[in-house]
Amino acid sequence: MQLLKDMIVTKGRVDSEHILKVDGFLNHQIDVQFLNEIGKEFKERFKDQPVTKILTIEASGIAVACMVAQYFEVPVIFAKKTESKNLDAATYESQVYSFTKDRYYKIRVSKRYLGSEDKVLIIDDFLANGQAVLGLKEIVDQAGAELVGVGIVIEKGFQQGGKLVRDQGIRVESLAIIESMKPGEVVFRP
Ligand code: G4P
Ligand code: NA
Ligand code: NA
Repeated sequence: MQLLKDMIVTKGRVDSEHILKVDGFLNHQIDVQFLNEIGKEFKERFKDQPVTKILTIEASGIAVACMVAQYFEVPVIFAKKTESKNLDAATYESQVYSFTKDRYYKIRVSKRYLGSEDKVLIIDDFLANGQAVLGLKEIVDQAGAELVGVGIVIEKGFQQGGKLVRDQGIRVESLAIIESMKPGEVVFRP
């Protein structure tokens, strides 16, 4: 998606640890008009799918998921990373390994909002190591729901997440795939 690539080049910043900072429009300050275009693009790419729920993970995935959900006219469910009194006792849960933090964390979704009749589209801002997406897939499986695809805003093609997820036969649509990057330079996969 050219608009996204232009945003990454003009407003993104690559720091020394191979992290692309996009906090000017996606991860901290949110450019809603721009995200609306992202929402439209995912709708176009998955228009053949009878999506009933959009599933994401807090925090950064939520804004993107909401924009996509407007076009499918379905609810968004975000998996929670923290225990909360407000969450129902009956939950689907999975463990997600974080490479950046070198530890596992648990994600949870109430059984009330996901069931075997659902056709689920997973949406997230980044695909790096793929552990968050695989954790969400496990929750979809526990619910007996069908995963119809995964929509990613920015895939880091030099990390193994994209291969891991696609090797499971899951359809992944990434709006921009980064082949390589260093400070001042981002190379996209054509
Ligand atoms: P992964 O296995 O799910 O791919 O994630 P990993 O542990 O590698 O990354 C940890 C967090 O960092 C994730 O957000 C992920 O989206 C984000 N991330 C990975 N690479 C980049 C990057 O190059 N730039 C930015 N801006 N973020 C990146 P999270 O822990 O789920 O946090 P949240 O921001 O959604 O709350
Ligand atoms: Na993030
Ligand atoms: Na995220």
